[in-house]
Amino acid sequence: MLRAILIGPPGSGKSSVGKALSRELSTSFEDTDELIVEKTGRSIPEIFAEDGETKFRAIEKEVVLLALRSNIGVISLGGGAVIDLDVQEAIRKSAAQVILLQIGLGNVLARISNKTDRPLVAQDPERQWKDLLAARAPIYESLATIVIATDNKKPYEVARELMSRMGLARE
Ligand code: S3P
Repeated sequence: MLRAILIGPPGSGKSSVGKALSRELSTSFEDTDELIVEKTGRSIPEIFAEDGETKFRAIEKEVVLLALRSNIGVISLGGGAVIDLDVQEAIRKSAAQVILLQIGLGNVLARISNKTDRPLVAQDPERQWKDLLAARAPIYESLATIVIATDNKKPYEVARELMSRMGLARE
C-alpha cells in the first residue's frame, strides 16, 4: 500500500528522507528519478541533453503515474513531476500522505552547487533554484498534507519527526 509521497524542490532531501521513512515504516521505497534511469538506461543529464526537457517530462509522467498506481510503500518524486496536471490529480486521489520537504537556500546551495546531476540548476544554481521554487511553491503547497523543514537535520531525524506527525511514533 502506498503510504507516503515525497515532493519538494531539488536538493530538499526527498530520496534520503524517503529511504529513511520507508525503513521506519518497514516498507518499500522507490525514487522516480532512479526508475527513469532504469527504464531508459540513461542518466537524467543524458536524457535532458539528448532529448530535451519536454521528452524527459513525458517519460517522467509515465513512470510517475505507474509508480503512484503500484504497491510501493514510499515514493519520492523528481522535483518537477508535480507540474503535470494528471500527476497532480493522481496525487490528490491517493490515500497516501503527501509530504512536502522544505529547505532554505543556505542549506540547499551546499547540496546542489558544483554538480552536474541536476541539469535545471547546473548553470546558475542559486538563481535557477529560486526561480524553480517560486514557480512551483503554490503547487507543492496545494498538494501537501504534511510540510516539514529539513534544514540541518539528518534524514533519520526527519523520518522520525514524520512518524510522530503521522501518529505512528513508537515512543
Ligand atoms: C528536476 C528535478 C530532479 C530531476 C530532474 C528535473 C526538476 O529531481 O527529476 O533533474 O525539474 O526539479 P530531484 O528533485 O530529485 O533533484
